[in-house]
Amino acid sequence: MTKPIYVLNGPNLNLLGSREPEIYGTQTLDDIRDSLIETADGRAIEFRQTNSEGDLVTWVQEAQREGAALILNAGAYTHTSVALHDALRACTIPVIEVHLSNPAARESFRHINYVTPAATATIAGLGARGYHFALEAAIKMTA
Ligand code: DQA
Repeated sequence: MTKPIYVLNGPNLNLLGSREPEIYGTQTLDDIRDSLIETADGRAIEFRQTNSEGDLVTWVQEAQREGAALILNAGAYTHTSVALHDALRACTIPVIEVHLSNPAARESFRHINYVTPAATATIAGLGARGYHFALEAAIKMTA
């Protein structure tokens, strides 16, 4: 059986739609999940969000064991979490980092990034479309 593609979302992404829409857009996380499931055309997607760093680390480990690929928007943990970096380092599946905004073009504290050095690829600054590009790549890479 084909393994699912994990799409994991970190802190505050549950607020999408109402949170700083000028930066993050007006789509909610549920909107993004629903349109990804449509795009996936039957390919199983395991889509989750958490505000907890520990949950995110546990889910990255689960994705490595049970998933075909991982799409990850780690939110602010991108800029702080060595634990997340270590969990990603242990992944042999493709890891595609996604950000709605482009952290490299924002405040200097967002220029520190613990995910990019452990990711296969990064898509940033394209809004919700970034998730779709990531899914397209993940499907092609694991076909
Ligand atoms: C984000 C960028 C991060 O810097 C920020 O902390 C987020 C969202 C993005 O998708 O643009 O929570 O990951």
